[in-house]
Amino acid sequence: MTNKKNRPDGAAEPVNTVSAVTIAGVRFRNPVIAASGTFGYGSEYADLLDVSRLGGICTKGLTLNPRAGNSGRRIHETPSGLMNSIGLENPGIAAFIERELPRLRGLGPVVIANLSGSSADEYSDGARLLDGTSVDMIELNISCPNVKAGGMMFGLDPGTAALVTGAVRDALRHKPLMVKLSPNAPDIAAVARACVSAGADALSLVNTFKAMAIDIHAGKPVFDNITAGLSGPAIRPIALRMVWELWEALRTPPGKAPARPVPIVGAGGIAGAEDALEFLMAGASAVQTGSATFSHPQTMIEIIDGIEEHMAKRGLSNPEELSIRKTAWYA
Ligand SMILES: Cc1cc2nc3c(=O)[nH]c(=O)nc-3n(C[C@H](O)[C@H](O)[C@H](O)COP(=O)(O)O)c2cc1C
Repeated sequence: MTNKKNRPDGAAEPVNTVSAVTIAGVRFRNPVIAASGTFGYGSEYADLLDVSRLGGICTKGLTLNPRAGNSGRRIHETPSGLMNSIGLENPGIAAFIERELPRLRGLGPVVIANLSGSSADEYSDGARLLDGTSVDMIELNISCPNVKAGGMMFGLDPGTAALVTGAVRDALRHKPLMVKLSPNAPDIAAVARACVSAGADALSLVNTFKAMAIDIHAGKPVFDNITAGLSGPAIRPIALRMVWELWEALRTPPGKAPARPVPIVGAGGIAGAEDALEFLMAGASAVQTGSATFSHPQTMIEIIDGIEEHMAKRGLSNPEELSIRKTAWYA
């Protein structure tokens, strides 16, 4: 098996690892992906871990134009968690393509461009630019809680989620589209179905939970934006429950709802192989790890090794066999 399809430049690399997975036509050497916003553009971590072993890398959220990000405090630790209010600081898509992508591409893992915007037009213009590059997949971020315009605003409602997903789908000629969902949506299954109907090839969840903290000594909220996004182990059981329920919702019998069982990529507080295995058993095709990398950069390598050891112990030859879900009508 090769990932020729990933490489418009024709530089196919063999992907023969026991834990290799295919998501939306893209072959990953294993189901472990660096989560957006927590791994820079990959090369920043090259001295700390063997980045080439990762299944994939999601870039920091990219916007058409450069963004300076939010003022004030941007990171705050909580019990078993981390709150952030970065505000999508990034150099803009053109600068990413010119300055970051060649190095990122050279690292080896699947490259996933995380795309954000404040209007459907901005999203689709950004998608068009990325479509002409060597990135393997677009992850549409309609779930960032830290920007005033756009971001999560689009991901809370099925109608706006479908609007942006459809606009980006129309702009893409070559790249598969994964949509990253917000756990803050009142009905995440309805948003997911709307995105799938509008052309999503895969779904990732969850982005961070809207949360807040108050500095009791200063007598004011810690963050200038008042609220921020909570990630880390504190959110893991909720994220797992959402993956479980979404898997089910996407397999609603035909006729009841538009259901196309697209692959799910699970995220939220995954900090070790056992955590990752829970998500893979819940029906996720792959996992993303974010916050855990900050305190322990080797986390994703240990997760890959742990998944492969677990598979070997049980004599499994494909990560899909880890799923404990039974397909009802979908085979
Ligand atoms: C500092 C920080 C920055 C983030 N930036 C982005 C981003 O730009 N785009 C995005 O889709 N998600 C972003 N996220 C969310 C993560 O990709 C991930 O979905 C979330 O943190 C849950 O995973 P974790 O608990 O393993 O961190 C960010 C998270 C953190 C902690």
